[in-house]
Amino acid sequence: MPHSFLYRKLKDARTTGALAPSSARLARELANLAKGSEHVLELGAGTGAITQALSQVVNGEKLEVVELQKKLAATLKSRYPNLKVVHSSAHSALDNYRRCGSVAVVSSLPFRSLPPAMKHLTVQSLLAFLKSSPGSQLIQYTYGLSVPFSAPADFKWQQVKWVLTNFPPACIWVLTKTPDR
Ligand SMILES: C[S@@+](CC[C@H](N)C(=O)[O-])C[C@H]1O[C@@H](n2cnc3c(N)ncnc32)[C@H](O)[C@@H]1O
Repeated sequence: MPHSFLYRKLKDARTTGALAPSSARLARELANLAKGSEHVLELGAGTGAITQALSQVVNGEKLEVVELQKKLAATLKSRYPNLKVVHSSAHSALDNYRRCGSVAVVSSLPFRSLPPAMKHLTVQSLLAFLKSSPGSQLIQYTYGLSVPFSAPADFKWQQVKWVLTNFPPACIWVLTKTPDR
């Protein structure tokens, strides 16, 4: 485990939310789910474990990544000069992100440990985004047994798969807005 990751884990425990970067296998599984969408927005890119897999299957101009921690965002910017890297909270980025066509939002956000106010704002922005962007999806992983966060009845969580070759094992979920009748 890189020392810099462990240091940030101790310093920003509630927003980092993981003991180690995502495994290459988890990153590939997420990227495969996202690659059919017209645009991809990655939330909580951290040290870039998932960004790397996404950048291999998604054209650079269709991929935007968001990270809350300034130093991590700066490192991502220098590592991926062809990508749009935004140093921002996920909810602000979502509120300002509009694209024509379907969007896969790939999230590493640690909903189980985020401070409650930040969790509330982020969930509200995600739900509003999915409502306003037909055909879009949230691809989220979690280390818990239940849905990453509860959503209203007009949204549907689908459990996709467990990835055991990750520390800790992670379960991938997809959230979509059910079509209006
Ligand atoms: C579990 S780490 C995942 C890092 C990386 N994507 C990976 O899979 O290894 C979560 C990341 O989300 C970032 N984060 C947490 N809350 C955030 C928020 N509200 N907006 C944007 N990024 C956030 C943290 O700074 C951290 O880098």
